[in-house]
Amino acid sequence: MSTVFCCVLVVLFSVALCMDFKVRPSSFRRSQQTTFLKSHKSRNLLSLKDLQEPDHVKMKRSEESAQNQCQSLHGYDSTLKNNTHTHNFNDLSGMVSLAWVGDGTGVLLVLTTFQVPLFIMRFGQSRLYRSEDYGKTFQDITDLINNTFIQTEFGMAIGPENSGKVILTGDLTEGRVTKIFSSVDFGKSFVTSELPFHPLMQITYNPRDSNILMVYSISYDLWLSEDFGASWRKIHETVCLMKWGINDTIFLTTNPSGSCSEWLYFSDRGMLELRKSLDYGKTFKTIGSRIYSFGLGGRFVFATIMSDSGSTRMIHVSVDQGETWDMAQLPTVGHEQFYSILAANNDMVFMHVDEPGDSSIGTIYVSDDRGIVFSKCLERHLYTTTGGDTDFTNITSLRGVYMTSVLAMDGSVQTVITFNQGGEWRPLQKPWNGECDSTTCSLHIHASYSISIKLNVPMQPLSEPNAVGLILAHGSVGGAVYVLSPDVYVSDDGGYTWFQALKGPHHYAILDSGGLLVAVEHNPSQPISQIKFSTDEGQCWHVHKFTDDPMYFTGLASEPGARSMNISLWGYRETVLNQYWVSVTVDFRQLLSRDCQENDYIEWLAHSSDISNPTDGCMLGYKERFLRLRKDSVCWNGWDFIVTKEPTTCPCTLTDFQCDFGFYHAENSSVCVEQPELIGHSLEFCLHGRKEHLQTSGYRKIPGDHCEGGITPERKEIDLSKKCVSNLLRTKLLTEEHSFNSAPIIAVVIAVLLISAVAGVIFIKKYVCGGRFLVHRYSVLQQHAEANGIDGVDDLDTLEGGKTHYHDDSDEDLLE
Ligand SMILES: *[C@@H]1O[C@H](CO)[C@@H](O)[C@H](O)[C@H]1NC(C)=O
Ligand SMILES: *[C@@H]1O[C@H](CO)[C@@H](O)[C@H](O)[C@H]1NC(C)=O
Ligand SMILES: *[C@@H]1O[C@H](CO)[C@@H](O)[C@H](O)[C@H]1NC(C)=O
Ligand SMILES: *[C@@H]1O[C@H](CO)[C@@H](O)[C@H](O)[C@H]1NC(C)=O
Ligand SMILES: *[C@@H]1O[C@H](CO)[C@@H](O)[C@H](O)[C@H]1NC(C)=O
Ligand SMILES: *[C@@H]1O[C@H](CO)[C@@H](O)[C@H](O)[C@H]1NC(C)=O
Repeated sequence: MSTVFCCVLVVLFSVALCMDFKVRPSSFRRSQQTTFLKSHKSRNLLSLKDLQEPDHVKMKRSEESAQNQCQSLHGYDSTLKNNTHTHNFNDLSGMVSLAWVGDGTGVLLVLTTFQVPLFIMRFGQSRLYRSEDYGKTFQDITDLINNTFIQTEFGMAIGPENSGKVILTGDLTEGRVTKIFSSVDFGKSFVTSELPFHPLMQITYNPRDSNILMVYSISYDLWLSEDFGASWRKIHETVCLMKWGINDTIFLTTNPSGSCSEWLYFSDRGMLELRKSLDYGKTFKTIGSRIYSFGLGGRFVFATIMSDSGSTRMIHVSVDQGETWDMAQLPTVGHEQFYSILAANNDMVFMHVDEPGDSSIGTIYVSDDRGIVFSKCLERHLYTTTGGDTDFTNITSLRGVYMTSVLAMDGSVQTVITFNQGGEWRPLQKPWNGECDSTTCSLHIHASYSISIKLNVPMQPLSEPNAVGLILAHGSVGGAVYVLSPDVYVSDDGGYTWFQALKGPHHYAILDSGGLLVAVEHNPSQPISQIKFSTDEGQCWHVHKFTDDPMYFTGLASEPGARSMNISLWGYRETVLNQYWVSVTVDFRQLLSRDCQENDYIEWLAHSSDISNPTDGCMLGYKERFLRLRKDSVCWNGWDFIVTKEPTTCPCTLTDFQCDFGFYHAENSSVCVEQPELIGHSLEFCLHGRKEHLQTSGYRKIPGDHCEGGITPERKEIDLSKKCVSNLLRTKLLTEEHSFNSAPIIAVVIAVLLISAVAGVIFIKKYVCGGRFLVHRYSVLQQHAEANGIDGVDDLDTLEGGKTHYHDDSDEDLLE
């Protein structure tokens, strides 16, 4: 998994003194920055039509214990009262941004900004606060940065891991030069320096070495510093997109004919060159031309390359950091469509391919371990072109589980879940408690899509790798009326079973590796004074009144990683004249005063449905037994808690294989059958420019599957020693020493393209992908923000912080 850390960038529609709350979770393991705005927003509603009932029933980890009545915890109120700390900020700013520095340090930086846009100029003021005790007390450190106004959009850049590095970027309007303030001691002290350019985006850290910084300027020059910002050198001009790759590699696209700025860039978008550098920009090597866009995910590098006609694009993949490329076997799509990497790790990629037309749906494909052959995995996947929103979520608390939404034929939105990395998707089960008076009662989970259409959903689904099996999410059961006020549902077995935990929308957080859950009612128009908590994975909730003076609540803040016992409630109070920020921090350590002992834990087999079955719990070739906290244990897992798991290898069965090139899954079965068009033909395909002959019984092991023994379908790739075209890189343009003349090859490729464009569509509509001459073209390689371990979510996001115009353009492109 990528260790890359990226500070979350929140795109702010900040009108001074307009107050709202906006959090965008990081695509990475930990989101360390959060922004709160004060505001009241009107909400309109979506009608979800009837949902289908799933046809299977599973064991519930929680049901037996739920029979027991909730035991009341005694005397917690006075304990918590003694451990509740309130900090009033003498600050009327409209917005606060929080950033956690380091891991387990309790250091929190808070930037408040107040801005009034006045025609072209902006006038503003910012204040900086710092806490060393998880937000219980704050110090105003604005004078440490000489009262400089810090940029709202990308002002705080926090270093990776526990480097303790912080960079604050001053606003351009403050003077003729851009100043930065850098700290190497978790924000205790800052030194200032002037940049020889004006940055266009947040300064990025090399994920492997936090002393190396890179950023591009408003004139699209790329600047790099090897001494943590003290000195800078320009390493490239006209850079349209840049990303840190594996092992200090820098990837960038550049426009040889001149500019990356909005209009010029658009007409030239498919004419870019992809370059990489291994020595921090001293030398660059061109690894592709006629590039439209590129993206990184896991060990894969994807790039879209224009065909000669200029109207189509094809997706190529490289697993050696851009040295060699192959066309990915994905279906043809028109120029108005797009591809999106939903999630990627070193084993495989989930790729969304947009349907033609403005349908808001597409198909998810999963890749093989080379990223070349893709199998169809989910149809009618909801991915709106307008907002670029999809509900695709990696459930990080259980291996192989992903959740998303599909648009049913009747126009309703339905949540589906997979427990085997996309092998099979099904609707969610009806919650085992919670009433439903409609005839169809499956659970619908609200995620990005519901948030984008402004349903009353304050948070995305939440799961944490160290809180095994636990998922918290907003959901509704039954017809449209239930959507008006989604409730909080919890699953404690990785999404197999669900129960209603809280009525109405809430903000929630996981603390102490799942040993403690907290929630606060979401009600922007009413001040609140209560926090709810649960020590049994959400079955019983206790209420603590944290104040006598209710406040307008904007959001929760706890240190990323879900190990903390301190939770802060952020909000504001109103006086006659104004509103000021308040943070209330509750420390639950005294409540769970006992350390958990061995007998507080119980063994749990993940993915188990039928203990009499010898392959029960097998997932991607192995089963895992976890030690999980008993629900009735009220104790502290502790900061150093590590998930105890015991993996055992499973024998291989057909479910450990995906269909090979030229084969597809027979409906409702794990058997792979040959595509009728290919029966009797020998299977040949082109890999790394050499023709291969494939002898296969139709199965290929799923990437990341560890099964051993059992069945082993036969498979062989024979090199036919014939040259063929496996990529569309313009070899003659490359600085590499490729020798052959590319002109005839291009002609052949175009011919192939034209044929396959017609053939491909029919092919794909009916069968799983894997056709012979499938060629794929696409318009926007968009990185999906929720994806895990993907470097380069900044493809569209980060860049747009200061450059919304070409974000709009991309959206238009998506929209057509
Ligand atoms: C709370 O603090 C007060 C004063 O510090 C102390 O007298 C009291 O015993 C504490 N209560 C609890 C429940 O810890
Ligand atoms: C603040 O200003 C003073 C005086 O101009 C200067 O000496 C000091 O270095 C500045 N500090 C920072 C962090 O910019
Ligand atoms: C990165 O470097 C390490 C050690 O130098 C090496 O083992 C690994 O293969 C490299 N990874 C890539 C993708 O080059
Ligand atoms: C999903 O999340 C898990 C846990 O963080 C991670 O190990 C896995 O690689 C992710 N899957 C993908 C496809 O990104
Ligand atoms: C909670 O905050 C206190 C500082 O006020 C800190 O000492 C303690 O370690 C924190 N607890 C956890 C579990 O993070
Ligand atoms: C596959 O399963 C679905 C739902 O269980 C059913 O409606 C359909 O008829 C099945 N198809 C075949 C070919 O068995």
